[in-house]
Amino acid sequence: MTDLRHLISVEAITSKQWDELYTLCRDIIDNPLEFADSCKGKVMASLFYEPSTRTSFSFQTAMMRLGGSVFGFSDPGASSVSKGETLMDTVKICSAYADAIVMRTPWEGSALAASLYSEIPVINAGDGGHMHPTQTLTDLTTICQKRGKIGGLNVGLCGDLKNGRTVHSLIMALSKFPNISFYLISPRDLAAPDYILRHLKENKQKYIEVTGLEASLPLLDILYMTRIQKERFTDPLEYERNKSVYVLTKRKLDRAKKDLLVMHPLPRVDEIALDVDTDPRAVYFEQARYGMYIRMALLLTMCSRARYTPPSYDIGKGAICKNERCITQTEHYLPNLTRNVQGGRQCLFCEKEIP
Ligand code: NCD
Repeated sequence: MTDLRHLISVEAITSKQWDELYTLCRDIIDNPLEFADSCKGKVMASLFYEPSTRTSFSFQTAMMRLGGSVFGFSDPGASSVSKGETLMDTVKICSAYADAIVMRTPWEGSALAASLYSEIPVINAGDGGHMHPTQTLTDLTTICQKRGKIGGLNVGLCGDLKNGRTVHSLIMALSKFPNISFYLISPRDLAAPDYILRHLKENKQKYIEVTGLEASLPLLDILYMTRIQKERFTDPLEYERNKSVYVLTKRKLDRAKKDLLVMHPLPRVDEIALDVDTDPRAVYFEQARYGMYIRMALLLTMCSRARYTPPSYDIGKGAICKNERCITQTEHYLPNLTRNVQGGRQCLFCEKEIP
C-alpha cells in the first residue's frame, strides 16, 4: 500500500489505498496457502489494554497464517504498565522488538499518541469510544464481498452511536463512497458525537437522526447493529435506561428489503435476537471471518515498511483538552496537538472540541 505509515484512523486511507488493500485481501481469500510464508520472520506486538475476542484473535491468526509470530498482553496488569510505565516507554520498547504494533486501549487518541514514539507501524485496534479503523476495513470488505461494490446505499447505524467506536470509523469511511444516505438510529442520549456530525456536514453527506428503528427498516440496504457500550457509562442508571432499547427480531425483518445486509461488529448482547442468525440476510459471522483476511492484507502491507526514526516532540506542560477520556489526561508528557475548526479548536488526539 502506498505510504501509510500507521493506521490510526480510516480517514487517512485514500480510495487508491483501499483498492490495493481489498485486491490483496481477495487474493488471500482465493489462495490462502500462497501467503503462508509471506510474513516469515516478522513479529507483531499485540497490546490489549481492554478486553477483546475477535479483534485480538483475528490479528493473531492473521499473523500466524502469514507465517509470522506474535507476542504481547491481553491484560496490562501482567506488564510493566501496572508498575506505572508510560505508554511512550512501552511503545518504544515494543517498537525495538517487533515489526508492527497492534494496540487497543480505553483512552481516546492513544493510538495517535503511541505512533508519535514508534519506529514501526502502529495499528489502532480501538481507542476507547473514539475509532476502530480495522473493524471498518472488515465492514467494507463484507460489503464489497456481498454487494460487489460500495455506493448508492441506505445505511442504518443503530444503537449506541455516542460511544460506539466502530460506528464512528464506519461513518468516516463510508463518507468517501458515492451516494450513501445515513440513518443514524439511537436514543437521544446516545446520539453520534459532534465531531462525527461535523464530518458528515463538511463532506455534504445525506443523513438523518432518528430514535426508532422500525420506520427506517424497510428503506435500508445495510443495517449495522451495535450494542449499548456498558463500559463507557459513568452513570449506571443511564445504562439501565438505554439497554435493550433496540432488539432486531426475525419478525421485524419481514418488512425489510430481501437483499438487506444485517451487520454487527460483535459481541452482541440482546440487540439481535437469535432467530435472526438463520436469516440469509444476517452476515455478522461471515463478517468476522472477513476481518481475519483483511487484517492479513493489512499486516502483510505494513510489516514490509522500513523502520524509521520518528521526530522528537516537545514535552507537554499538561493537557489543554478537557475530555476526561482523552489520552492527554493520563499521559502528561504528550504535546498539545490541536487544529482550528469552525468556531474553536479541536484536540487532535480525541477530536473533541476544546471549550
Ligand atoms: C467492537 C469494539 O470492540 O469496539 N468489537 C469488535 O472489535 N469487534 C464492538 C463492541 O465492543 O461493541
